[in-house]
Amino acid sequence: MSGETAPEMTSETKAEEGVVPDPPKTPQMRAITLTGFGGLKMLKTVQRDEASVKEGEILIRVKACGLNFLDLMARQGVIDNPPKTPMTIGFECSGEVEALGPNASGFEVGDRVIGFCDYEAWAELVAISAHFVYKMPDKMSFQDGAALAMNYMAAYMMLFDIGNLRPGNSVFCHSVGGGIGQAISQLCRTVDNVTLYGTASYYKLESVKDNVTHLFDRVVDYGQEIRKLSPEGVDIVLDCLCGDDTNKGISLLKPMGKYVLYGSSNVVTGETKSFFSFAKSWWQVDKISPIKLYDENKSIAGFQLRELVFRQGQHEYARKVMNRLIQLYSEGKIRPRIDSAWAFEDVGDAMQKVHDRKNIGKIILDPSLEPKVKPVVQGQVRTHTDSSCSDDKEPVANGE
Ligand SMILES: NC(=O)c1ccc[n+]([C@@H]2O[C@H](COP(=O)([O-])OP(=O)(O)OC[C@H]3O[C@@H](n4cnc5c(N)ncnc54)[C@H](OP(=O)(O)O)[C@@H]3O)[C@@H](O)[C@H]2O)c1
Repeated sequence: MSGETAPEMTSETKAEEGVVPDPPKTPQMRAITLTGFGGLKMLKTVQRDEASVKEGEILIRVKACGLNFLDLMARQGVIDNPPKTPMTIGFECSGEVEALGPNASGFEVGDRVIGFCDYEAWAELVAISAHFVYKMPDKMSFQDGAALAMNYMAAYMMLFDIGNLRPGNSVFCHSVGGGIGQAISQLCRTVDNVTLYGTASYYKLESVKDNVTHLFDRVVDYGQEIRKLSPEGVDIVLDCLCGDDTNKGISLLKPMGKYVLYGSSNVVTGETKSFFSFAKSWWQVDKISPIKLYDENKSIAGFQLRELVFRQGQHEYARKVMNRLIQLYSEGKIRPRIDSAWAFEDVGDAMQKVHDRKNIGKIILDPSLEPKVKPVVQGQVRTHTDSSCSDDKEPVANGE
């Protein structure tokens, strides 16, 4: 061995020797990709072509992303009309404006913004129509910004625009320790003398009890407990579970009360989609006749923020609500409760925490965080960008 290294081939020498030159490299970014519908191992953090802006869009350099229950449902494939896999999931983020597409006005490069989108948020760069981008106040952290769009907009619209929440009213909501549950409890406190009844898993009770007037373990018969305290029922029921809880919720209403269905968490019973729980949840809902509602003076509503904003054209209404939320935030009246922040590569563990019902408040994904060091299972090589969760891996403790 001479120890000499071969001279590096330049593009000219490659061309002279008939070697096909490498194609010019498209700039790459990291993104959490769903490779197919199913369990946690369908999530991979991969390198893909950088997002680029089109007409009317804002390119955001992402600093934080919100993880919603909706992302678990998207991963399992239980949401209607999902895009084809592989795709990047995620519905909300915050960050800095990197570039503006043609005719995208009202923003400047470097602005700190919140972005709300229909998939694609969990990437280092995301291009979003300016309709769904909101400027953040200087004092708002990126984590707080990433926690506002889905949970607080939905909570605000349901409480104030559907529920017509007024001083002295009573509200019931499930999962009060979760992302939207915390938003509901904080927004209820912006109105005088509101009684909030809520449920949560046992180990959250101590931590969230100060935000709720009457808090119950989710396994108790909450209908019976609420009737003991308020025999006439409640003014507003916000139901994110569906199934049998729909019937219980409607029966809890006072005359002139309003029931709002806004989720179907009951269909998620394991890591992958269950047709049985899907069918059970659907079958358990009693068929309600408008004539019964007429006799009982009750109202039933449904609410789906994504449909409203992305398919029913209500982006100006959403902007008005976001402006109001930013005002409430600036006045110190609302403040997202952040459960924990996770690296993109640890998204499987972050989602596992939600499946395990252990999050108190919002889970954030932060592309700048280093992944946790995980034990290497013998015979398995783990690469930096492999965020999939093997079935036999112990869930890692929370990221706080
Ligand atoms: N319609 C809309 O526009 C809209 C907008 C935002 C959220 N949502 C809905 O609101 C609900 C909560 O959403 P989020 O993003 O704020 O999540 P989240 O409440 O932070 O979700 C996690 C919590 O949900 C509870 N939960 C209930 N059923 C569960 C199940 N089958 N598996 C695991 N956890 C379950 C658990 O709390 P406990 O064990 O303490 O109950 C868990 O900690 C979801 O149904 C979501 O689809 C709807």
